[in-house]
Amino acid sequence: MQVVLNLKSLSCCMGKYLSIIVLVASFIALVLFGCNRAEKPVIKTSEPVNTFTVKGSVREMDLNPAAAPEFPEHEGKTEFISYCAICHSLRYISTQPDFPQKTWEAEVNKMVTKYHAPIDSVIAKKIVAYLVSVKGKK
Ligand code: HEC
Repeated sequence: MQVVLNLKSLSCCMGKYLSIIVLVASFIALVLFGCNRAEKPVIKTSEPVNTFTVKGSVREMDLNPAAAPEFPEHEGKTEFISYCAICHSLRYISTQPDFPQKTWEAEVNKMVTKYHAPIDSVIAKKIVAYLVSVKGKK
C-alpha cells in the first residue's frame, strides 16, 4: 500500500523531482571533472625531491650529493669525470663490479659507437687506463 501511495505522489510532481536530480547530478559532475581538470599534473619520483632556492624566477638546485659518487685520484680522472658524465650519472660506473681491462675497453667503445659519446681514441685509452686502475680486476 505504501509503495502505491508513494508512486501516486511521485507521478504528480515528476517534473520537480527530475529537475532536482538533474541539478544534483550536474553538481557532482562539476565537482568530479571540473576540479580534476584544474589540478596540475604531478610528476611522481621515487627519490626525494631536491631542495631549491628561488632567485628571481630561477630555481637554483643543489644536486643530491648521494648521486655524485667520489672517485679516487689517479691519472686520467679528469678525462673520466669530464667525458663519462656527459650523458648519465657516474653512478652507472660506480655501481658496476670490478672489470678486467677487456670489459672496460668494450664498455667505453660501446659508449662511443652505440651512443655517440664524443671521445677520441687517445682520451678513450686514458679513461680505460683510469677505470682499470680504480675499478679493475685481473
Ligand atoms: C653520449 C652519451 C654517453 C656518454 C658520453 C657515456 N655514456 Fe655510458 N651510457 C649511455 C647510455 C645511453 C647508456 C645506457 C643507459 C640505459 O640503458 O639506461 C649508458 C650506460 C652505461 C653503463 C651501464 C652498462 C651498459 O653498458 O649499459 C656504463 C658502465 C657506462 N655507460 C659507462 C660509461 C663510461 C665509462 C663513459 C665514459 C667513457 C660513458 N659511459 C659515457 C650513454 C653515454
